[in-house]
Amino acid sequence: MNRVIWFGLAAGLAGIAAGVVIAFQSQQRAAAPPDMPAAVNIRPPDATFDPVFGPCAHCHQIGKGARMATGPVLEGLIGRKAGTLAGYPFSDAMRNSGLAWDEATLDRFIASPQSVVPGTRMVYAGMDDPKQRKTVIDFIAKAGEGD
Ligand code: HEC
Repeated sequence: MNRVIWFGLAAGLAGIAAGVVIAFQSQQRAAAPPDMPAAVNIRPPDATFDPVFGPCAHCHQIGKGARMATGPVLEGLIGRKAGTLAGYPFSDAMRNSGLAWDEATLDRFIASPQSVVPGTRMVYAGMDDPKQRKTVIDFIAKAGEGD
């Protein structure tokens, strides 16, 4: 009886030790050197890190060389038809919205994405402050001019 308990205890401890070793190893693997060429190549353009663009930067990139992320590239957005940018898997809701992105449409959309494009996959509650929306929209329009 006693032997069984000791055996169980030893097996449990071994399990914990193995878990610690695995956790330690995966932590080491995550810490890649910061200046690896691949890491440099996938860094989003500087414009993406502008504080004004902060609420969008979780999911979108903007600036020259921007790439698709969780959301589509917002470079060159103004004048584009919604859901048409090649290489991004838009929702049917966005593709069929019939919208074209100008300042006014963008303002309505950012204020409440789900009411302007019901069923959109953009999971963003909305930006309430009209002044903040205007700042973001001006920023997107300017970044779209190519810097
Ligand atoms: C949590 C992620 C997320 C955040 C935050 C977010 N978006 Fe999006 N956005 C998406 C996704 C995903 C789509 C694609 C939606 C679809 O296909 O229905 C999208 C689509 C869009 C589109 C349509 C683009 C096109 O080419 O038709 C615009 C415009 C847009 N977002 C603007 C913004 C702006 C501006 C902000 C910041 C205020 C923002 N988004 C914040 C995820 C996000």
